[in-house]
Amino acid sequence: VHQAQAQRPLFHITPDFGWSNDPNGMLQYNGVHHVFFQHTPNETVFGRQTWAHVASTDLVHWKRLPTALYPDRSYDTSGVFSGSATLYNGIPYQLYTGVSQFQELGYYFQVQAVALPANLSDPMLVDWVKPADNPIIPAPPDGATNQQFRDPTTAFYQDGAWRVAVGTQLNCSGTALLYSTQDFQSYTYNGVLASQIGIEPNGLCADSGLGSTEKCNQIGEGCRMWECVDAVHVGPVMAIKWSDQVNGRSFFSRDWYVLSSATAQVTSLDLDGPEGSFQPGVDGTAFYSPQAVDYGLVYASKFWRDAAQRQLWMGWTFETSAGCDQACSTGTNFTTAQGYQGAQTLARLVTYDPEIQELVFYPTEESKLLRSQQQVSRLNSLPVNEEGASVLGPNVSRNQHMYDADVSFALQGDSGAVQPFSVGLVLVMGVNSDTDVTFQLNGTATTSSSGMTNVTSLGVYVDRRNAPPPTNTTYGSGFDGGPVTLPEGGTPGTNLRLRALIDNSLFEVFAQDGRGRVTSRAYSLAVDEAWDLKAYGSFAGSVKVSGSVWAMDACWVDDLMIESQ
Ligand code: FRU
Repeated sequence: VHQAQAQRPLFHITPDFGWSNDPNGMLQYNGVHHVFFQHTPNETVFGRQTWAHVASTDLVHWKRLPTALYPDRSYDTSGVFSGSATLYNGIPYQLYTGVSQFQELGYYFQVQAVALPANLSDPMLVDWVKPADNPIIPAPPDGATNQQFRDPTTAFYQDGAWRVAVGTQLNCSGTALLYSTQDFQSYTYNGVLASQIGIEPNGLCADSGLGSTEKCNQIGEGCRMWECVDAVHVGPVMAIKWSDQVNGRSFFSRDWYVLSSATAQVTSLDLDGPEGSFQPGVDGTAFYSPQAVDYGLVYASKFWRDAAQRQLWMGWTFETSAGCDQACSTGTNFTTAQGYQGAQTLARLVTYDPEIQELVFYPTEESKLLRSQQQVSRLNSLPVNEEGASVLGPNVSRNQHMYDADVSFALQGDSGAVQPFSVGLVLVMGVNSDTDVTFQLNGTATTSSSGMTNVTSLGVYVDRRNAPPPTNTTYGSGFDGGPVTLPEGGTPGTNLRLRALIDNSLFEVFAQDGRGRVTSRAYSLAVDEAWDLKAYGSFAGSVKVSGSVWAMDACWVDDLMIESQ
């Protein structure tokens, strides 16, 4: 069995076979949650995209359904690209991008189209139809091209009309275009909703947070395109989110967002103004620095609301080629034997945190339904040091390594001063050989003028033990991570919280209940060995760990229990 198959994530959505990327068209309808995703069904590389379809009644147990959208029209013959759902008059509209290749032009031509359920009383919404008046938005405005014009959002009601945003490249800059519609059939171009210009004033390498100059050098400076834009209200703020494509290369960067405040929300989306654009800022202050949605391997994410009006979010997490080089022991990336590519994160609940003026993303309560009866470990003020203490127990040997570790680290000591700290969990993937993955929260304890310690960082590190020279090289993603704003600082009495959802080769790690989040991938080269999990901590005083580790169940079910409506 191929490494990637043996350590395939089992409580995250993956395709049964083939390549997958962006989540699409999420919605809850008649009690059933639907997630679609970009899928090339017949090979493990990106190809002619379809919409795969899974459904759930609780957002965590999923049933596979037949492919929902195929490239079967002249305007989408080369691929059914990403899009979003809107419930309008009780009918789900799936707006998506149709791609066709005009041979004579030699490039891909992108338009916006719609698909509707064939049978509204089918609880699974298996069949979708594409009306004859497609494509509904056949061309972008002047200055943008049909080659870079895609990924329509869920419609949002703003200033007396339904509005939809579509991503593009306008004069070499990543841009969200705004459209309005009365009937979801004809669309009027309203102007630029938001653009890279003004939000990211510096050059790419200085400003985009790509994580390493190495990565930066690979793609260089160049024209940007905003893929998978989103525009959503989260409590009192409005967020614009984009996936930053550089020089035609997707997923080398990240998903970013900026906020505007509640009062600014209506006035700043001033479509009659000179720029006609969204002005980022919270509480009247300029707030131009984009925040990462996730500091790890997440791209092309999307927001949606469920029937309870919760603001939810899900993103695509992918293999790193480095990880694949190791996992695909032949050294060939993306082989058929690998079986699948790409997974979706768990659904995260999105809230606005007024204290730090950022969005917080944290797995929904339903994620706890995946915790099996088997509580592997319960920790009650276990003292830890830099050596680390085993929290899984060395005897745990399981076929599948699926855990939810929900722990907190209490910093203790005499001095009330803010001190540096480092706490975390080490996942030992194979006790005798191979790989460690460290989920780490560091504080360098600089207190900003506003009194917040905001230089804390959450990171995921992959270390290969006993590797042939050069030793200690990393694989998987090496390091993924970013800052976590920690208003309380690293003082004695501080409780640092970490939750690591470990799904074989996929890790979603949250600090401070979602103020920090990093998603990452790594494979162990020793599949059959027992794994261990160690908690460690270093601080001027002492560190004690409390919390629990659960074994997790797989997400796949054959049937859903649907309550009759
Ligand atoms: C982002 C993206 C989207 C596009 C889709 C195609 O990853 O490039 O812009 O719609 O993937 O699969």
